Amino acid sequence: AATYTAPLPEDEFLIIAHRGASAYAPEHSLLAYELAVQMQADYIELDVQQTRDDELIAMHDSFIVSNGAKRAVSDITFQELKEIPRSSVYDGILPVSLNHVTDPLRIVSTEEIFDHFGTDVNYYIEIKTTDSKRAIENELLRQLHMYGLLPMTGEKPKIIVQSFHPASLQYIHAEEPDIPLIQLYSQKKESMLTKRHLKKVSEYASGIGVEKSIVTKPLVERAHSAGLHIHPYTVNDNEEIRTMIQLGVDGIFTDAPDVAKRMLDEQ
Ligand code: G3P
Ligand code: CA
Repeated sequence: AATYTAPLPEDEFLIIAHRGASAYAPEHSLLAYELAVQMQADYIELDVQQTRDDELIAMHDSFIVSNGAKRAVSDITFQELKEIPRSSVYDGILPVSLNHVTDPLRIVSTEEIFDHFGTDVNYYIEIKTTDSKRAIENELLRQLHMYGLLPMTGEKPKIIVQSFHPASLQYIHAEEPDIPLIQLYSQKKESMLTKRHLKKVSEYASGIGVEKSIVTKPLVERAHSAGLHIHPYTVNDNEEIRTMIQLGVDGIFTDAPDVAKRMLDEQ
């Protein structure tokens, strides 16, 4: 039987704010996400890790380095992570929507992000770490349910889920087939992206996310023939953004959504 995968917007080039508007503010902070929304990004991108006390947080790395020692995020409580001072600073104007937020630069949980933005924005969520219990996936699905974020037929999806781990995506596909999924590939996986492989991926995913240096016209065509969208990461400067648009990709991960928006308007 033909497999069902959730649709992604057609004929629309998606600007995905990579870790928020992370060119302008500390990545994954409420500030970075607010700026991305102001810059009219279509999706805000969050990497997800789980703390010792089972909180899902928006964070890229699975560890922190403190006093020269490496510590796993899964061994640290959310409270402790919240108190870590950010290494980067912001000297721009704070959006008024953050007036009531005490520290818009700190590490935040996915629930704090969902509380803050609700259903007003679209989320492109990466499962960074997975295990056989699918702890992160199950907690994320519970939250998406609770916040009313699960995609409804015919709407631009509020949620897209991405991962480098096929098993994680296949699990989500079985649990919630209406969530569009993106299979991620690093540069070194380039040779895997054959017609046959992409056909297999299209049984659970709606698209692929690839390192920008491996994007070619033939790859874009192979993805499209398999019914898959293609979103390169991380594309920040004018020239690269223009090249990606010309290669026919369906959207980009970018640290600078304002630059992408400008380039797109010029096309
Ligand atoms: O999720 C796409 C891209 O962000 C993957 O790389 O390391 O920035 O999460 P990374
Ligand atoms: Ca990511």
